[in-house]
Amino acid sequence: MEKRENWGSKIGFIMAAAGSAVGLGNIWKFPFTAGNNGGGAFVLIYLIFVAIIGFSVMLTEFGVGRRRQLAAVGAFKSVDKRWTFAGVLGVLSGFLIMGFYPVVGGWALAYVFKVGGGLLSNPAAIGDSFGAFITNPSTPLMWMVLYLILNVVIVVKGISSGIEKAGKILMPLLFGILIVIAIKGLTLPGAMAGMEFLFKPDFSKVNGSVVLAALGQAFFSLSLGMGCMITYGSYLSKKENLVQNAAIVTAMDTAVALLAGIAMFPAMFAFGMEPAAGPGLVFVVVPTLFAEMGAMGSMFALMFFVALTVAALTSSVSLLEVVVAFLIDEKQFSRKKAVFSSSTVMALLCILASLSLGGVGPKLFGTGAFDVFDLLTDKIFLAIGGMLLCIFAGWRLNKQDLYDEITNKGEIKFGMFDTWYALVKYVIPITIALVAISGIRQGFE
Ligand code: PFF
Repeated sequence: MEKRENWGSKIGFIMAAAGSAVGLGNIWKFPFTAGNNGGGAFVLIYLIFVAIIGFSVMLTEFGVGRRRQLAAVGAFKSVDKRWTFAGVLGVLSGFLIMGFYPVVGGWALAYVFKVGGGLLSNPAAIGDSFGAFITNPSTPLMWMVLYLILNVVIVVKGISSGIEKAGKILMPLLFGILIVIAIKGLTLPGAMAGMEFLFKPDFSKVNGSVVLAALGQAFFSLSLGMGCMITYGSYLSKKENLVQNAAIVTAMDTAVALLAGIAMFPAMFAFGMEPAAGPGLVFVVVPTLFAEMGAMGSMFALMFFVALTVAALTSSVSLLEVVVAFLIDEKQFSRKKAVFSSSTVMALLCILASLSLGGVGPKLFGTGAFDVFDLLTDKIFLAIGGMLLCIFAGWRLNKQDLYDEITNKGEIKFGMFDTWYALVKYVIPITIALVAISGIRQGFE
């Protein structure tokens, strides 16, 4: 058997896993989801979910992936054939997320060129120009295809030369730019109202659907519940400290989401924009923020959209990799064939998603493809996938094996092992079930 590909270095793995986690979910989705769900209380619930459920599930995914040395489906199937469906659900989620993610990735890429082409010269028109752009039937498609091609190029190259290199160089750049934007936003008059909205919880705004949105956001943002971190963990060396890696990746992801919130809300309040501005938030707030700064502003906005594109890219390559690894491990495809066939299907889904924003195409319960793919994965599949993984680890796998894997046979001190185990076995599955039921009921009322 061919030796399994491995990460080139420790920092390379962290950057790639953090690269997967940090993406549109943090910078595009987190701010507008927080805005739609009332701000502070949502953020607080999200943070609690990240710290308790997100971290534990990530550790479980790393552990299961490295133990089984197989990607999502194989990791379940090699233990018990009856569990294959849990992995397949993950691959399906990968397809569905890749059915809209590259559309937004394409917007980000397009905005690099739009900002370069003078978008900021007429600040009053920035909002309308975004609306006109995404509802156009053809231009966003071209950008989506271009974006998807970038993914294909990286994933065809394989693990350490493609995905790992991209993450190592570009992640730190993103962090730096977000800090610059946050500082700029915070210095505007009236900015503090934005901080209050984001960090002062108002529990009267909490209901089942807000809690489910926070749970879904935690899973989506940390790339959990669909076997992505199982797949990445399967390429990880036996020497690595899984607990430390999971903690670092979770912390980095959360830091970027909060930073994106701090970059967005103060500016938005200072401009008198609506917090529930929806998916256009970053594409409107950031250019507007920099518009009055002249050439310097254009440069910052340009850097921001380059970084957003890169953050999106290091995430979508991981989504594509989940499907590709499945085809290689389970269907004996060559890497090339796996990449080309799966990305073709994704492109077709993206066409449906993109057209739906202009009101074209089929609808499910009155909702277009873009929102259906997003809702299904974010609000249902990922959380259910996480729940299944926890039930699998807690009830089907051997506790001693898990202990050996997570502590490298006792070499690594993890005093909280029993707490983690109880969370995975009982608390997380029950919590997810309750949150999903109450959220879905609320949604249908
Ligand atoms: N975590 C990514 C983001 O926040 O943009 C999205 C994602 C990547 C979700 C990989 C799931 C996944 F498996």
